[in-house]
Amino acid sequence: MLSNKTILVGITGGIAAYKICELIRRFKKNGANVKVVCTPNALNFVTKLTLQNLSQNEVYVEEFEVKEWKPEHISLADEADIMVIAPATANTISKIACGIADNLLTSIACAFRKKMIIAPAMNCNMWNNPGVKENIRVLKARGVEILEPESGFLACGYMGKGRLCGVDKIYDAVCEGLNYSQKLKGKKVVITSGGTIEDIDPVRYISNYSSGKMGFALASSAKQMGAEVVLITTKEIEAPYKIVKVKSALDMQKALDEEFDSSDIVIMAAAVADYRVKEVSPQKMKKGVNEELTLELVKNPDILKGLCEKKTHQCIIGFCAESENLIENAKEKITKKGCDYLIANDISRNDIGFGSEDNEVVILDKNGGMKRLEKASKSVIACQILEAVY
Ligand code: CTP
Repeated sequence: MLSNKTILVGITGGIAAYKICELIRRFKKNGANVKVVCTPNALNFVTKLTLQNLSQNEVYVEEFEVKEWKPEHISLADEADIMVIAPATANTISKIACGIADNLLTSIACAFRKKMIIAPAMNCNMWNNPGVKENIRVLKARGVEILEPESGFLACGYMGKGRLCGVDKIYDAVCEGLNYSQKLKGKKVVITSGGTIEDIDPVRYISNYSSGKMGFALASSAKQMGAEVVLITTKEIEAPYKIVKVKSALDMQKALDEEFDSSDIVIMAAAVADYRVKEVSPQKMKKGVNEELTLELVKNPDILKGLCEKKTHQCIIGFCAESENLIENAKEKITKKGCDYLIANDISRNDIGFGSEDNEVVILDKNGGMKRLEKASKSVIACQILEAVY
């Protein structure tokens, strides 16, 4: 997804520096070339070796360690497609705002001419300092994107605004900043994810192993492609788009019905339970004396089929989880459901699919076409699915 892109990650001396390791890992996993530049103080919080291993590149700190004829602050600034500074201290923010270039990171920032994103993190009183506020205003006015810090417990013991925003938010902002494809701009994409939960009594339920990760990856890719995203999910997640939390198949159907008419693309990545308990016990069921217990189940509506029957202009994409005869069953399912595309998923393998970070799928279309996507991270697969279907 990020291949052919060079991302310059600037790290300054704040406790949140350790969180950037995860950010670098995600950039790398999605194919980016990552160059890390640290202020000397950043190395009090995270080691050069860690950053070197994660970025699979040299980590730059000192300004005058000349290796090439071209000064590093110029070559690094020229080479990168985007620069993100996280965490950014009050000191570095203020220096960049004033054009001060007294270390490698601030020198690069001074020479940088493309999209720059800054994610500040500091004590709440520092964040509220009028000087810092003014410098933030100056940077914003110059087109630098500021990812505002969040409120909560701060490492210094204070409670207030100053905590580095989530790594997901920084990752999404960089992808958006790279503007790698805004093909879904103006489109509404509704995605379902997670396994539905069908109650038996107040303490027990029927569900399945779906982790929701494929749906999250699709939602995040659709957002990065410029879409208005609605994620209808049974899982807990915080994300920069609308989330509708549901539990059962019936809840999911109701939430979908509310979003359907105004949507352009609907992706049913959720693992919907085919059956629910006929009568949910209002009280915890007791063991009783019988050795056996029979639960009476009733069929849940086939949500996907129902949507396909009433569709007007929407592109509808289903998923298909199979443990055997993947293509054969998928072909039968796309006809039975009537959807535009079906993403066939082999759940018998434990290196892909349910719960795993990776996936390998086959995209079937209603005209009999088929496209196999090689094994890759779920975010790469999500991006490829969206590129292929719309
Ligand atoms: N689906 C749905 N409503 C259901 C069951 C499934 O909308 N009651 C959707 C799923 O979200 C998925 C697609 O239908 O997009 C296929 O789901 P899958 O579990 O593979 O197939 P089923 O239709 O449940 O058939 P079976 O379990 O017999 O394979």
